[in-house]
Amino acid sequence: MLKKIIAIGLTAILSGHISFAQQSGFKVNKKVLSLVRSDLKRAADQYKILMKQLPPDKFPKSYNAKTGKFETSGSGWWCSGFYPGTLIYLYENNKDQVLLSEANRMLALLAKEQYNKTTHDLGFMMYCSFGNAEKAEPKPEYKQILINSAKSLSSRFDPKVGCIKSWDSKRPEYLVIIDNMMNLELLFYATKVTGDSSYYKIAVTHANTTMKNHFRPDYSSYHVVNYNPGTGAVQQKRTAQGYSNESAWARGQAWGLYGYTVMYRETKDRKYLEQANHIAKFILTNPNLPADKIPYWDYNAPNIPNALRDASAAAVMASALLELCRYVSHQEGHNYFSAAETIIRNLSVAPYLAAKGTNGGFILEHSVGHIPENTEVDVPLTYADYYFIEALSRYKNFNTK
Ligand code: GLY
Repeated sequence: MLKKIIAIGLTAILSGHISFAQQSGFKVNKKVLSLVRSDLKRAADQYKILMKQLPPDKFPKSYNAKTGKFETSGSGWWCSGFYPGTLIYLYENNKDQVLLSEANRMLALLAKEQYNKTTHDLGFMMYCSFGNAEKAEPKPEYKQILINSAKSLSSRFDPKVGCIKSWDSKRPEYLVIIDNMMNLELLFYATKVTGDSSYYKIAVTHANTTMKNHFRPDYSSYHVVNYNPGTGAVQQKRTAQGYSNESAWARGQAWGLYGYTVMYRETKDRKYLEQANHIAKFILTNPNLPADKIPYWDYNAPNIPNALRDASAAAVMASALLELCRYVSHQEGHNYFSAAETIIRNLSVAPYLAAKGTNGGFILEHSVGHIPENTEVDVPLTYADYYFIEALSRYKNFNTK
């Protein structure tokens, strides 16, 4: 009998049907865990510095160390949800009321974006903020704001194309970017709380269309696919923020990895798990991924090894891998977990982790926003901080959950 149970267990593990966290022998590294705890404390201290510099009605965007200029935005900028979302993660980690009350102040400023139908970024803006708030301290108004946001986001879906539109254009084109995979989690939430499956169907259709058209045979992805708005046919595949149309922009690969991991979590459809695994393989076996696993801003940047690194892409990868490792076989899971650990270790020291009291209060240095437009180049960014803190929380929770 015992032999039979062991045999069934082994088969389940080898076939990937038991999550990595449930498997025996899984352990977080004590040194990394202690680093994670100290990072989380440092991050809370940094954000208390950052909050003091913020004009009352503005959201943090970046900081220029050379000029000392603190960059801010209004609530309509695609990154407006990351600061309140990070504050909530930090609050969950240390229960410091100062962080929560600052998060609440920002949520009040952000709430009006629930009706914004001019952006595809509502998932980033509203789910990273109100979604986190709803998980930490549920309130009926958060739920309603999230439902309204999902409605606004869904208004950008066109069944002919099979995608949510990313960027509006005056030309006869329908532009969809790989980043848009990150906005689908909001739609799954909306179906769960309303019972209305239309949000779920939009998310699945968008993910399927993107899987078909955005990826190359090696599972790297184009940044932008331009569809014919009349027929839904692909007109062009190109980049906007990467080095070239045929290059692999690092953050785009990270968005895809994270996006298809969420798709598997929400649907349990194994084709999404396979997609996430293929993307992970492209990233982790890429000859241009440095040993510290902080990618250059583009895997095909011309001046590697002297190209800029992108800490934001690394942070997104670490967080995604810490989820994906739970869904796969022991060996794959171990590879993903250990890659995420490497990223965490390396983001936890100079030159990436900002020295106390520096960097305008941002947590990480050295991210890249948009090199082709020469904006936000080698600077701190709110989304690098957000996904780094999310990765740290996920790592810490491997120990406690
Ligand atoms: N477009 C979102 C990003 O820069 O990743």
